[in-house]
This record gives sequence, structure tokens and C-alpha cells, in this order.
Amino acid sequence: MRGEGYYSERTAGARNVINDAGAMVFDALRDLPPASTLRLADYGAADGGTSQQMWDMVIRNCRNNGDERQIEIMYTDLASNDFSTLFRIMQGMQGDATYAYQNHFKNVFVHACGTGFHEQLLTSSSLHLGFSATAMHYVSIKPMEISNHVHAACGDISSKTAFANQAAVDWQNILLARAAELVPGGRFICLNFGIDAEGRYLGNTGGKHMFDHFHKFWKELYDKRSITKSEYEGATFVQYYRTMEEFCAPFSDPNSDVSRAGLVLKSSSTKLTKCPYEAAFHDAGGEMSSREYAESLIPTMRSWSETVFKTALKGRDSSEINKIVDDFYQAYSDEVAASPEGHAMDYVHIILDIEKTTASISS
Ligand SMILES: C[S@@+](CC[C@H](N)C(=O)[O-])C[C@H]1O[C@@H](n2cnc3c(N)ncnc32)[C@H](O)[C@@H]1O
Repeated sequence: MRGEGYYSERTAGARNVINDAGAMVFDALRDLPPASTLRLADYGAADGGTSQQMWDMVIRNCRNNGDERQIEIMYTDLASNDFSTLFRIMQGMQGDATYAYQNHFKNVFVHACGTGFHEQLLTSSSLHLGFSATAMHYVSIKPMEISNHVHAACGDISSKTAFANQAAVDWQNILLARAAELVPGGRFICLNFGIDAEGRYLGNTGGKHMFDHFHKFWKELYDKRSITKSEYEGATFVQYYRTMEEFCAPFSDPNSDVSRAGLVLKSSSTKLTKCPYEAAFHDAGGEMSSREYAESLIPTMRSWSETVFKTALKGRDSSEINKIVDDFYQAYSDEVAASPEGHAMDYVHIILDIEKTTASISS
């Protein structure tokens, strides 16, 4: 993600999805077995800004219900993440301080971890509730470049299979790592990008297809010889959108490693969250121009996608990289401004509530 707060400032949709899950998190906390302190984790938190209001609400509910226990909250992301911005946001030193919960409540301890979530990150049986939003579609390694598209969801059968296999291994590792970290009775709530029963996924919900547009404008740069063939092919998102079946597979088999580690699926559902930028455009009637709409929509797409295109250009001078990537998003923005209808970034999430039961079978 782009640092310095750029991500959370431009990602209202992700924040809305997390806020909607606040009640689920609070209910899970109430079901936890007794403990003298509470240890929470937010996996793949970026700068922490998008989940801050939810955590503020959850902690406020705990305190309002007389729960004065010490709370430790561990934010995790990749080592390259801008953790410094995260710490400033939590302490109200950057951005809107309304939900800077460290300023509101005593005995809340904020920590961070820069190791990827495919591994165990916390000491065994120490975590009461883990949470993750919009992060676990990132696979741990890119199994191949997708030569004729940018995303596995739109790739040919061989790239889809390669990414699906990697995602299955990663999902098992994610779950086994959480099984090791959670206390018996602990919970893991995750809201992951995925493909719903109607085949919809991020940016592909019936209107204009976002990833096809990324591909179209990237290919135009190649066709104009502004980028090379390997740069064109190198723009491959290291992501895979799992289906509900793929998410649930480790839980359906009582003899799987995940089931034997004691994890059970308490609930699963899918959720479509409409693009807030498109809604604001429609609500504004004639008050917002299509250019203004384009200038609100494209930065939210850019906040999480630009590293893919910048990485494909590595080896070039940074000013050249910035110029090419600016031109790329400008082309997309110009198309939205010229013809805004159907351009949007609706979210599609698969929401899972997982419990570590007391029973785990060791082999
Ligand atoms: C789209 S952002 C989501 C941020 C926030 N959770 C939200 O919902 O707005 C995805 C985040 O996952 C992080 N991420 C990707 N792979 C990861 C990994 N293996 N371990 C930890 N974090 C990872 C990225 O660095 C990024 O900050």
C-alpha cells in the first residue's frame, strides 16, 4: 500500500466494510472464555486508519460494559509497511483524531509486527481474537506472470490454476498459524475479498470491469512502446480471489490439518458493498462533474494497485516510473470523466467467523 496515510485517506469503502463488522467482533469478544487480559490482532492492517473507528467502537463497548481489562492490540503487516504512520494515527498525531482510541482509553497497548500472516506471529495460545480485513487475497509468492492480463480472476486456465494452488496452500498456512496463536475458545474473524455465488468480485459487479480497464490501459502503453514486453507482462497482481467453496474446504473435512488443529467455522456469508464514491456522485446530482467523480474514484483504485505497475517498471529511473504510472491512471481517469456510467469499485467480501475449539487432535 502507498504509505504516509494515503491508503486510509482514500479508502472509504474498506472502512465501511470494517465498521459493519464491528458488532460481529464485539459479539465474539463477549463469547470468549474468561481471561484476565485481552489480546487482539489486526492482520494486514496497512496504516491502521481504516479499522480505527471499529476498534474504537469495540473498546468503547467493552468499557461501557464495565470491562476494564488491559487490552493489547497487535497490528500486523509486511515489513515494508508504513508502521510509523500507523503509530501516529493511533495516537491522534496524524489524520482525523476522532477515533484515536489510545487518547480515549486507559490500559490499551498498541504493538506492531512486520512478519507476513502466512506464518505464526504470536506466541502459542496467546491470542483471544484475531481480525483481518481485505488482506488475505494476497498470495505469499507470485506463481507466474500472467502474460495476457493483470489479474488471476481474468487469466487463462493455466494461470488461474497456478494461483488457485498457491492460494490453497496459503489459506491452510494462514489457518494453521492462527490455530497455533489462538487460545482455546479464541476467535478469528476475517473479511476477505472473494468471488460470490454470482461470480462477482471487486470491480466486477455488473458495470464496467475494473481489472479489464487496468489491463486495457497498461496494454495501450505497450502498444505505444512506452513500456517493454516484459514490463507489460510483469504487471501481475500477486492476488487470488477465493470462492466460498475454497474458503470452506479446510473446514468441511474433519480430517484436514485445519480441523485437526481445532478450528471450526461458526459462520460464513458474502457481502456486496457498493462503491461510496459512485454513490456520492449519484447523490450529488448535477453538483459533481464527471471529472470530479473520476478524480475521487481513481485515487482509491490507485491506493492499493499502483505498486503492481511500479514494480513492473523496476530498473527504470524513479521519475520515469512516476511519469508512466501517472499517465496510466490519467488515461483511466479521462475515460471515467468522459463516460462515468458503470465505472465504480464495489467490494465483494466473504466473511468468516472461525473458532479455535478446545479439542485439537495431534497426529
Ligand atoms: C488492501 S490493504 C487492507 C488494509 C486494511 N486491513 C483494510 O481493510 O483497509 C491489504 C494489506 O495487506 C497487507 N499484506 C499483504 N500481504 C501480507 C502478508 N503476507 N502479511 C501481512 N500483511 C500483508 C498489505 O501490505 C496491505 O497493507
